[in-house]
Amino acid sequence: MDGRKDVGILAMDIYFPPTCVLQESLEAHDGASKGKYTIGLGQDCMAFCSEVEDVISMSMTVVTSLLKKYKVDPKLIGRLEVGSETVIDKSKSIKTWLMQIFEECGNTDIEGVDSSNACYGGTAALLNCVNWVESNSWDGRYGLVVCTDSAVYAEGPARPTGGAAAIAMLIGPNAPIAFESKYKASHMAHVYDFYKPDLASEYPVVDGKLSQTCYLMALDSCYRQFCKKYEKLAGKQFSISDADYFVFHSPYNKLVQKSFARLYYNDFTRDCSSVDNDAKEKLQPFSNLTGEESYQSRDLEKASQQVAKPLYDIKVQPSTLLPKQIGNMYTASLYAALASVLYNKHASLDDQRIVMFSYGSGLTSTMFSLKLNNGQDPFSLSNIASVLNATEKLESRHMTLPEKFVETLKLMEHRYGAKDFETCKDTSLLPPGTFYLTRVDSMYRRFYERKADEEIAAAKAKYSNGHATNGYANGH
Ligand code: ACO
Repeated sequence: MDGRKDVGILAMDIYFPPTCVLQESLEAHDGASKGKYTIGLGQDCMAFCSEVEDVISMSMTVVTSLLKKYKVDPKLIGRLEVGSETVIDKSKSIKTWLMQIFEECGNTDIEGVDSSNACYGGTAALLNCVNWVESNSWDGRYGLVVCTDSAVYAEGPARPTGGAAAIAMLIGPNAPIAFESKYKASHMAHVYDFYKPDLASEYPVVDGKLSQTCYLMALDSCYRQFCKKYEKLAGKQFSISDADYFVFHSPYNKLVQKSFARLYYNDFTRDCSSVDNDAKEKLQPFSNLTGEESYQSRDLEKASQQVAKPLYDIKVQPSTLLPKQIGNMYTASLYAALASVLYNKHASLDDQRIVMFSYGSGLTSTMFSLKLNNGQDPFSLSNIASVLNATEKLESRHMTLPEKFVETLKLMEHRYGAKDFETCKDTSLLPPGTFYLTRVDSMYRRFYERKADEEIAAAKAKYSNGHATNGYANGH
């Protein structure tokens, strides 16, 4: 591979809407019992798009921000892949909207389109880019992966598991977050756990309980295959002791707690040294359960969560910051969890291993492994952490009343698939540099503008010479 090594993620940025609702107040608003969303689901807060934001505007915001913050020349992007399950157009990919950023500097030679399968599309996009850089087709330029979704549910128990965000990741060799490409296992099957058959609605059809079981079954299957492959290649058993962090797709935090407990239970059934004697004793009553019985056993769930808790706090908890605060971001969810580890632990990640689990209903799932090194600026872990700037971004959000959240969702139900309307164009809550939707014309063409970023605003103040915003419209 002509000296190409450590292919992986060189740089990362995240954008999430400034509008959000506290789970505690949503609980009260919905008449749910106190603690159901915060403790039962394990969520603190949920981001949502107001009428001026959508998956296209968020993806344009995050890509522009990444290129600027890491000083990457847009001409150096050779592949652009988008993962999303939020359907705005059944033919025109989100990638083509993003092309406006690259066309402006004369770069139209960029492969890749959108990948979609529920929350897995981002992983498909990422694996495509990594494979491209590792392949004979690579032309020496960067890959760019964008995961962008707005997760909204109809009124009911699934609604508090929504969220919204876009993540961009720059892919290339000599990366601080490198793929251990050989350590990878997938589980894919046909199942109706969560799907979007109604093309007139943004909301999915969800069999919540089935989706939880499918997620855990897929996790078990991936982990078994992953361990087998590792053992074949490394010549020793793999257990949770062999990774420093486990990062899971995070629809809501409780499922992440259950997932790590499930890996712990797997290690117990495989007689791994990662399980201490005390834990072995507590899990002994469950040693003869069939697979099916083990998914139904509430006692096993409780016992395994309890014995896994000390390791959960070390190996999983650092990944939960953004998912607990933003909610399910569908394709971006797993990578927001990875971003949380990078943000929280960047100073101590050199030579550490992170095992990732990606799940998309329907179903598709992959477990893969990343090996970290400190890297070199601008592609260093410390620079990635400072670009992510998670605490400040979270703290500068605007807490909305549940009534306003519900009202926004009602408006968006009406707007979904509609044409010939203008948005309120209210950008007061948006950070500088954010793209926003201004109108959809009679041919369903969408028009976006960009809130002046600090540099543009400063230049404008200096020369007072014209428009405050950059126009980004279809056919621009
Ligand atoms: N205090 C503390 N905990 C409580 C309280 C309370 N007052 N009330 C309920 N709980 C707990 C329950 O015991 C349960 O916890 P457990 O799972 O540890 O037993 C939890 O809160 C959830 O309550 P349930 O009644 O079991 O579930 P609910 O009917 O509210 O639905 C679900 C939850 C299925 C997750 C729903 O929100 C949903 O369908 N979400 C979308 C589907 C989804 O995200 N699936 C995950 C994989 S697929 C994907 O990523 C989209």
